Amino acid sequence: MRSGVWSRNKLADEFEQKWAQLIGSKRCLSVVNGTNALNATLAQLEIGWGDEVLVTPYTFIASVSSILFNGAIPVFVDVDPETFQMDPDKIEEKITSRTKAIMPVHILGLPCDMNRVMSIANRRSLLVVEDACQAWLAEIDNQKVGTFGKAGCFSFQNSKNMPMGEGGAIVSDDEAFMDRCYSYHNYGNPYGTAAGEVGAGTVMIGTKLRLTEYQAAIGLAQLERLEEQTKTRNINAKYLKNQINDIPGISPYKLYENVTQAAFHLFPFRYNKEKFKGLSRKGFLEALRAEGVPCSTGYSELNKMPFLKNAFESKYFQKFYTKDQLNYERYTEENSCPENEKLCNEEAVWIFQNLLLGSQSDMDNIGFAIEKIQKHSEQINHKSK
Ligand SMILES: Cc1ncc(COP(=O)(O)O)c(C=O)c1O
Repeated sequence: MRSGVWSRNKLADEFEQKWAQLIGSKRCLSVVNGTNALNATLAQLEIGWGDEVLVTPYTFIASVSSILFNGAIPVFVDVDPETFQMDPDKIEEKITSRTKAIMPVHILGLPCDMNRVMSIANRRSLLVVEDACQAWLAEIDNQKVGTFGKAGCFSFQNSKNMPMGEGGAIVSDDEAFMDRCYSYHNYGNPYGTAAGEVGAGTVMIGTKLRLTEYQAAIGLAQLERLEEQTKTRNINAKYLKNQINDIPGISPYKLYENVTQAAFHLFPFRYNKEKFKGLSRKGFLEALRAEGVPCSTGYSELNKMPFLKNAFESKYFQKFYTKDQLNYERYTEENSCPENEKLCNEEAVWIFQNLLLGSQSDMDNIGFAIEKIQKHSEQINHKSK
């Protein structure tokens, strides 16, 4: 703070070097947030008007809005309810001649099946942009997520496991792409032009997405504890999963076989009310909160939200797409995702990541709380009616 150098400078450079090294990527560019990491990545890969991008409906809005923001159309691939991720078995049937990219989102900090995604993408010549905004240090066969595709995007927003308040990053091994991203994030000035420097000549259309020095300083401090905290979350998540695995009506997340580390931004499980004497998910959550466990039902159905219709009805989309391509009724039908619907509306329960930083006895207490609700579900159901 006392240096007075608050705009992007040496600390942002240092953060980028350290993040690239930690993730195992050649290059990293820090940006203002994860949303704009995705926006810039798609823009610099020239994914835009006329293109389709395959994406999961079980994600945060920014994954999907980045596709629309660049003028492309999101095509939803239903989820595998056991892993909460894009179902690799359902990818190929969604590929058309307009498909340009797949955006696997390692949602909740659990890795997607990247071996399957990459093999499909390579075979069908598609770009892969990983939304790793919730998946810092998650790994498949000891390789960090965000490094499998052409580019990976991260978020360092306040609620995240690696928070800076706001912040984001793009990683990639493609030097030319990263040079373009740098220019784009700094008004379109040539790669390497320092913040505040004038007269370098602007070489491309750009905007301003620069991280500040104080954000980078916070990021550097967070880096010192991220690896240890990630290990703790993994140990506790595995322990808690074992504690609740046999409770009827509770199905904890499943990791793909080759996952060597997850980020556990959330600890998810599926709830089956039939095994809880008909106690609704809402009633279950109220009871769990009353036991002192913060929890949530998570996402609602993105593929049915009004923002999609709004985009289809915008003058920009109507200028670049035919009426037939913007047939919203058909789009909704073709993009229905029944597994996602069940997760969002009936089954998913999230326990927040910060709980996984507790002790083993904290995990026991969460397990006991769920067991207790199961044991008394009839009474609770009766009372909450
Ligand atoms: C999956 C996913 N993608 C993108 C974003 C956007 O990141 P930010 O909030 O930093 O803009 C988030 C943040 O919540 C996210 O969870």
